[in-house]
Amino acid sequence: YDAKKIRNFSIIAHIDHGKSTLADRLLESTKTVSERDMTNQLLDNMDLERERGITIKLQAARVLYTAKDGETYCLNLIDTPGHVDFSYEVSRSLAACEGALLVVDASQGIEAQTLANVYLALENDLEVIPVLNKIDLPAAEPERVALEIEETIGLDCSDIVHASAKAGIGIEDILESIVQKVPPPPAATGGPFRALIFDSYYDAYRGVIVFFRVVDGEINTGDKVRFLASAAEHDVSEIGVMQPNQVPTQALRAGEVGYLWGNIKDVLDARVGDTIVLSKEYKLRKADVKNDQEPIEPLPGYADSVPMVYCGLFPVDADDYESLRVALGKLRLNDAALSYEPETSGAMGFGFRCGFLGLLHMDVIQERLQREYDIDLIVTAPSVVYKVQKNEGKEEVIIDAPSKMPDLGRNDVALEPYVKMDILTPSEYNGAIIELGQERRGVLIDIKYLTPTRSTITYEIPLGEVITDFFDQLKSRTQGYASMEYSIIDYRESDLVRLDVKINYENAPALACIVHRDKAQQVGRRLCASLKELIPRQMFKIPIQACIGVKIVASEHINPMRKDVLAKCYGGGKSKFL
Ligand code: GTP
Repeated sequence: YDAKKIRNFSIIAHIDHGKSTLADRLLESTKTVSERDMTNQLLDNMDLERERGITIKLQAARVLYTAKDGETYCLNLIDTPGHVDFSYEVSRSLAACEGALLVVDASQGIEAQTLANVYLALENDLEVIPVLNKIDLPAAEPERVALEIEETIGLDCSDIVHASAKAGIGIEDILESIVQKVPPPPAATGGPFRALIFDSYYDAYRGVIVFFRVVDGEINTGDKVRFLASAAEHDVSEIGVMQPNQVPTQALRAGEVGYLWGNIKDVLDARVGDTIVLSKEYKLRKADVKNDQEPIEPLPGYADSVPMVYCGLFPVDADDYESLRVALGKLRLNDAALSYEPETSGAMGFGFRCGFLGLLHMDVIQERLQREYDIDLIVTAPSVVYKVQKNEGKEEVIIDAPSKMPDLGRNDVALEPYVKMDILTPSEYNGAIIELGQERRGVLIDIKYLTPTRSTITYEIPLGEVITDFFDQLKSRTQGYASMEYSIIDYRESDLVRLDVKINYENAPALACIVHRDKAQQVGRRLCASLKELIPRQMFKIPIQACIGVKIVASEHINPMRKDVLAKCYGGGKSKFL
């Protein structure tokens, strides 16, 4: 153990720029994994991730590399998920590193996600090493892209590595620059043991496996640990390092990256961002501090994950309700950010109302339920979490289902979540994007030209407007060239109303939605029209109405069957019947 020989780094990249391929190549070229064991993209180890080509859960790997100076270095690669929904996880894994490889596709250039991740890395004071990937492609323009990186991010690109993760070009140069440019972990403070959790997952045999970076002190097998935020305590059965398969060790010290497990039953006990300390050191100091004070200072940056998007999940076949409950429970074991509670609906029967970090998170869970647990689902339209302040702000109600939205009194205000959104686009599409932003109640904050032909457009925009096909619209209006990235900023007062749907004069709470008053009519019409298509005809006329309170804002009706059916009986067209 020599902390000076440790380099902790992660790879940041826009989706598809080659992060996983490069990670594979680094493991392969350092013989961390024998070629025989090498399955493609080892770090993305969930099937679904591999199929969709996105990284959802973080993993880590330790690489031993003998550099040109003859010394052997221990490089810890910490993988990061590649999607906006998981930006908190990204920020925590970056906080566990001293450096980051910034992988940019030399045929594409900088994208919104590249920028967002670079800013996260710079906020965490990381040394960012740019790498131009895919230089084997005929369309690669390394000079142009290097200039773009210099001008937009301000990184020195004079000796930027030209690489191809696919063809194995530049891999040695990348390893050398990690050793030379990424600083070793800072010297330990000499204080008690503290480690940052950057990932955890549930294993059926061993319980929760926790991945962490040691910041201070030392941990040994058999120690008892405490997780500061959850206040849970557990005996450690095993600690070890990822090579990338888990290999037990006796001890881990400041600067090292490793895993532990020990009969931890719930991922909520050991959440990403929490600080691990040793119970004995904690107890020893407890006597010296006041009641509400933590005897060991938690590492900065812990945040609870709060679901931002909700939807109802109902089994198509009512007999699947129990299997759905069990399946959600199993998925939750591995996913502290997933929440669910039972919901009943007159129209759809028994189901669950589920909370997710965002749309992708929601998609992934739905798909796993259908694919791994074979449950066919009816999914209600997603909605965001609103708030209502009553009695001039004295009381706050969280609205995670449209049917929970109360009628507002004169002193009540409704609030909705806003995000700050950065869109990167070829400048010719600026107009189209601004039009879209306006349609979605966005507040234009800034337009910047990164280069003469590329711009970033910054909006503050309601999350509720983003989760309904914003991304699809953005792509289709810019022919796929724009990319976007957003993060929640705050809740803002808004003129929101609950739009109820009545079918045959009966309220259908599961179909209600919360909308801005200006859009109520438009949304109501759309809802009524699509319900008209969906609901089968009956023997009698069925009215469908969208209402705000008692006021009807849109209506349709489903014609009775009789005329058509009879027309068919007479074997002729309408005119004949008439
Ligand atoms: P996410 O996991 O979705 O974030 O993507 P990623 O950044 O990990 O990209 P991934 O490694 O999955 O690569 C995306 C695609 O680019 C794959 O089809 C790779 O085969 C291809 N690719 C990666 N590196 C190179 C390269 O150097 N040259 C070429 N031609 N293709 C590459």
